[in-house]
Amino acid sequence: MTTAARTRYDAVAMSLHWLTAVLLIFMLFFGEDLMEEEDGFGAFGPSLHVSIGSTILVLSLIRLAWRLFNPPPAYPLGMAPWERMAAKATHLFFYVLLIGLPLTGWLATPKFLREEGPMAGLMLFGAFPLPGAPSLGLPMKDFHEIGANLGIALLALHVLAALKHHFITRDDVLRRMLPFGRTN
Ligand code: HEM
Ligand code: HEM
Repeated sequence: MTTAARTRYDAVAMSLHWLTAVLLIFMLFFGEDLMEEEDGFGAFGPSLHVSIGSTILVLSLIRLAWRLFNPPPAYPLGMAPWERMAAKATHLFFYVLLIGLPLTGWLATPKFLREEGPMAGLMLFGAFPLPGAPSLGLPMKDFHEIGANLGIALLALHVLAALKHHFITRDDVLRRMLPFGRTN
């Protein structure tokens, strides 16, 4: 089917969207607890944090490459130009965070490891040591934390917009990202 005729996202784009959404939402709300040994996740928490975060990075790079060759379906005709621009800006900002959060996190690890000596030895998927990051002398932890807070604000905006399209405008914008239900 041609892009013009397609009315919903393809299966790869949908799978990557929902898998990334689950992982990122978990990290936005529990990422901080994972890094603190006393908060229930124990000594395993930081390695889980860097493993899930790196998975988000890899999935997002694959997703961007896929999107390049498989553009999203066209917006519904009734969607105002400002709404299209707002949707595009939100999606672009999400991609910046999906790549920027793991990178700022990685760059925050040298200071973290210096301060949390007992947690040294961050492992990826319990199998590989996390490659060492350079110390840039910048407040990477603050950039990482600000990015996570922006991510929560963006998520709220994104979900409200999806619900508005579904329940108020009653168009196909939510359905085209869902694997079930019909689009017009
Ligand atoms: C999209 C993925 C990620 C999200 C949403 C995320 C989220 C967070 C959050 C909310 C915190 C707590 C910040 C605070 O203290 O308030 C944090 C801390 C941290 N994250 Fe991530 N993170 C992600 C990926 C990563 C990755 C891939 C790494 C390393 C490879 C990483 C390394 C760190 C480190 C080292 C800290 C602790 C900084 C410190 O306390 O000195 N993060 N992260
Ligand atoms: C943190 C989690 C999430 C992230 C990072 C995220 C990110 C994105 C991105 C980047 C797109 C654009 C897809 C593309 O063209 O490449 C998108 C589309 C979409 N997302 Fe999410 N999303 C998240 C959670 C959600 C949730 C919870 C919902 C449901 C309420 C949702 C509903 C949608 C819908 C309906 C679209 C299609 C919008 C359109 O075609 O304009 N997303 N999302």
